[in-house]
Amino acid sequence: MSLELPTDRLLIREWELDDAEAALRIYGAEEVARWLTPEWQPVTDIDAMRSVLHAWIEAGPNLTPPAGRWAVVRVSDGELVGGLSLKLLPPFEEDFELTWAIRPDLWGQGYASEASQAISDWAFKQGIEELFAVARPDNERAISVARRLGMEWVGETEKYYGMRLQVFRMRPT
Ligand SMILES: CC(C)(COP(=O)(O)OP(=O)(O)OC[C@H]1O[C@@H](n2cnc3c(N)ncnc32)[C@H](O)[C@@H]1OP(=O)(O)O)[C@@H](O)C(=O)NCCC(=O)NCCS
Repeated sequence: MSLELPTDRLLIREWELDDAEAALRIYGAEEVARWLTPEWQPVTDIDAMRSVLHAWIEAGPNLTPPAGRWAVVRVSDGELVGGLSLKLLPPFEEDFELTWAIRPDLWGQGYASEASQAISDWAFKQGIEELFAVARPDNERAISVARRLGMEWVGETEKYYGMRLQVFRMRPT
């Protein structure tokens, strides 16, 4: 599903292979990578980042809508500030998980919250009834984003990804 979604300051769009260098500043950063899912393999150079983007782009059309992975670009200067995804939570693949990653030097400007609000509004218009976010208990910034988005705390579980995670849920307002 191809998407171009503007917000006040940002554009949420499909990934392109040419994003590799800028994407490496997000996903190659230790401050981001340490919080990603356990199966994430560290990405240390542009070629590896390009391979990851290639896989994401190829997989896109086969995902269960509204799942996807998107780039988040700052409109004022075209800077790639982060990435978002909507994916089915393992192992049951019934619930959609919203994930965020922002380039570390751009944390604290509300970009994750602004982009997440837009993508969740869009996802609800596609017909899903709830969205989840999961975060390790010590991932304070991710938990703050969930709370800033008005997500409801559901509890703590080990059923996803085999690790203890805080679970948050959002429903359409
Ligand atoms: C989780 C993550 C995306 C949060 O980024 P963030 O920049 O802290 O989150 P937000 O975009 O919501 O920004 C909120 C901050 O911007 C400030 N802010 C400034 N302008 C703002 C605006 N217009 N709107 C909202 N907040 C604004 C808020 O006051 C808040 O400040 P604080 O950090 O001092 O509390 C980031 O830490 C990250 O990439 N972490 C690694 C990956 C990760 O953990 N992902 C989650 C699991 S999938």
